[in-house]
Amino acid sequence: MQIPFHRPYITEEEINEVVDSLKNGWITMGKKTIEFENRFKDYTGSKNAVAVNSGTAALHLALRVIELKEGDEVIVPSTTFVATAEVVNYFNAKPVLVDIEPDTHLIDVNKIEEKITDKTKAIIPVHFSGQPADMDEILEIAKKYNLYVIEDAAHALPAWYKEEKIGTIGDITAFSFYATKTLATGEGGMATTENDEWADRMRVLRLHGISKDAWKRYSKEGSWEYDVIENGYKYNTTDINSALGLAQLKKLEWMWQERIKIAEKYNKAFKDYEELILYRVKDDRVSSWHLYPLKLNLEALKIDRNQFIEELKRRGIGTSVHFIPLYRFSYYKKHFDYKPENFPNSEWVFERVVSLPIFPGMKDKEIEYVIENILDLVKKNRR
Ligand SMILES: Cc1ncc(COP(=O)(O)O)c(C=O)c1O
Repeated sequence: MQIPFHRPYITEEEINEVVDSLKNGWITMGKKTIEFENRFKDYTGSKNAVAVNSGTAALHLALRVIELKEGDEVIVPSTTFVATAEVVNYFNAKPVLVDIEPDTHLIDVNKIEEKITDKTKAIIPVHFSGQPADMDEILEIAKKYNLYVIEDAAHALPAWYKEEKIGTIGDITAFSFYATKTLATGEGGMATTENDEWADRMRVLRLHGISKDAWKRYSKEGSWEYDVIENGYKYNTTDINSALGLAQLKKLEWMWQERIKIAEKYNKAFKDYEELILYRVKDDRVSSWHLYPLKLNLEALKIDRNQFIEELKRRGIGTSVHFIPLYRFSYYKKHFDYKPENFPNSEWVFERVVSLPIFPGMKDKEIEYVIENILDLVKKNRR
């Protein structure tokens, strides 16, 4: 059997929406994008939603509107996708890494304050695998030191932190619709915020700093004339992507339930094996289960994580690793002075973690095949 790490869930609904865009004569950002933004606002309960062409773009625009400057510092977890820190580098500002917790892989809030200096401008917590970070503690620190909180919610649609849905808690929240995400449009992203001025500015910045977007320019109510009021970017999305987004949003709750069902099956199957360490979700939050991270108890096994992944691959099971800690990359070694020994939990997790397939539409026999093979590997490689 061959089981990919991820398989997008695309049905006739997505296909029909896209075909409608292709036939109706408007394929770049237009009416469908406005509708997608409105539906997204309703879904997350946020006041403003600004659609862009990636989650990275959403993070970048967020840092632009909070006026991040050269020399500023931004707190980010040491284990995250590179985009979280890369956007800080765009400004010649410094991503200041903070270690994660070993059981949740979330930024360790007890280690944030020691990293704050007069240059610190913001914190970017990452809702790893779909579990919200410790937002109360983060907001308290932000208030004490007058910092902005930009949530990296690339994994967290939908997710709840103590009854509150992700999308309205921090200053700006950035979502991703990359191919493997819980809502997938191939590429895409959304920034939500309660701040109208920031939202307006992000709309201008996403399309070259033009004061009116192309939709208004070319539609009946528009005119040819426009002004450029800021130096912006080409970050707008297209109606083709938004067509996919609209269709995906309609089935998001169902897709999320599918993920939960798979996570529960994995948890039940693996919980009694001392060779395996289950990922912990804290009691007061609800995860989107974008990822299913499983850790190996290396002390109880004869094989390491890489060998485990190779064995699964040989048996037709696709996996991934989330994430290689940032300080391990050449670029970060060259430009910063992070020391791996300062991030013991990131190191510990990285040596042990593997992300298993978890996606809507995964068949029972596929889930069982993954479980059987993991348990077989465990039994054959016990110390
Ligand atoms: C934690 C995290 N942040 C940001 C991003 C960037 O999103 P995008 O690929 O849509 O730019 C991703 C994933 O791709 C991610 O996993």
